[in-house]
Amino acid sequence: MSELLRAVSEIVGSGGLLVGDDVAARSSGIWRSDPIAAKAIARPRNTEEVSRVLALCNAARQPVVAHGGLTGLAESAIAAPAELALSLERMNAIVEVDAVERTLVAEAGAVLEAVQEAADEEGLMFPLDIGARGSCTVGGNIATNAGGNRVIRYGMTRELVLGLEAVLADGTVVSSLNRMIKNNAGYDLKQLFIGTEGSLGVVTRVVLRLREKPRSEDTLLVAVEDFPKVLALLKAMDAGLGGTLSAFEVLWNNFYRLVTTPPANQKPPLAQDYPYYVLIEAMGGDPEADHARVERAFEDAFAAGLVADAVLATSDAQRRAMWAIRDDVAQLNQHDPWFVFDVSLRASDMEQYVAEVNRRLGARFGQYANYTFGHVGDGNIHFGTAAGDGPEAYDDVKQAVYEPLAAIGGSISAEHGVGLDKKKYLRLSRSDEEIALMRKLKRALDPNGILNPGKIFDL
Ligand code: LAC
Ligand code: ZN
Repeated sequence: MSELLRAVSEIVGSGGLLVGDDVAARSSGIWRSDPIAAKAIARPRNTEEVSRVLALCNAARQPVVAHGGLTGLAESAIAAPAELALSLERMNAIVEVDAVERTLVAEAGAVLEAVQEAADEEGLMFPLDIGARGSCTVGGNIATNAGGNRVIRYGMTRELVLGLEAVLADGTVVSSLNRMIKNNAGYDLKQLFIGTEGSLGVVTRVVLRLREKPRSEDTLLVAVEDFPKVLALLKAMDAGLGGTLSAFEVLWNNFYRLVTTPPANQKPPLAQDYPYYVLIEAMGGDPEADHARVERAFEDAFAAGLVADAVLATSDAQRRAMWAIRDDVAQLNQHDPWFVFDVSLRASDMEQYVAEVNRRLGARFGQYANYTFGHVGDGNIHFGTAAGDGPEAYDDVKQAVYEPLAAIGGSISAEHGVGLDKKKYLRLSRSDEEIALMRKLKRALDPNGILNPGKIFDL
């Protein structure tokens, strides 16, 4: 063991540092089959240990990659053999839930589902919800500014964080544990660590904003004949629901078929030949009135000719079955390989953009499948794409998906981040001046470039 690792081991205590087979035994991510390649995994127990480890690494110019639940899709937590992984897994305490001020304090390694449950026990809700809830950590959610299915109502992670504590590359602890909704006393420093993929500091503790737990949930699945009607339905339901719309997820025909046809477990609640299916959810505080409002909004949309067919969930089981259809992204495993995409664009550009991506995939590959779904209410769509006969096709697929975004001002990442996966394409979504400013911030906060080096952009 090198001198540096021995020193790290002394800081994190016995069992705190994993090396050799203990590293190789761990998968580098829940979507991946390769092991963690890092030279070692340091597992500090508290902020002070994180600080001491980083100070040592900074002095030794040792690159460090922070690890949360390793559920990301953008290769943002991949560690190279020369790098040290810094896992927050032993810092997973829920420190405090304040039901009156509606805040929750947790260590960064707390698993999202544990945070949701702790809020629930107090009659409250932490609104962030994503498929990886059982493995991802709040620190990782913050580092990637995670989105998910309720962004339309509650915003992305950024909107749910009141304060945080982070450790800078040189070991400086910046405690910015604000608990107020309003605080304009200078720069909002927490934003430096939200969505910056562990490149500017390691988040160690968080103050999260909780919401009142909804007392009603109405869920419906609507078949729609064309895309302009999907957008009109979004407007009609949002206006008609008066603020309770909490999800507006769209499944293109090919995705709906994939997840409602064996070997998928779910049966199709609506015939499989409509072009679009919309999963709509409303959450409110008065079940009877909320339900009546949903019915009225839906009837108005129906009368306006926006609805081809629909089913309204009448039980919790039905509601869950509808969400299972939306969330069964794992059906893409029927293809090998498949690639997932996460792009953002103006709703009015979506229909043409999807057609253009398909045209490019057809021209390049002939045969391809491009399952399309996502958070259309947030301007965010996903593709699950199978094209070409090997991983080497990936770059050609990326070009087909990303290039058309440049002309329409879209983003190569809506909610998954950039990592290594999209770094080559960052210029399609960001100007030279924007990237130069990112580099300036990186150099200012991490002059030796030890934090998650090579992710997002090259220095
Ligand atoms: C989803 C993931 C792919 O929305 O972001 O299912
Ligand atoms: Zn998503």
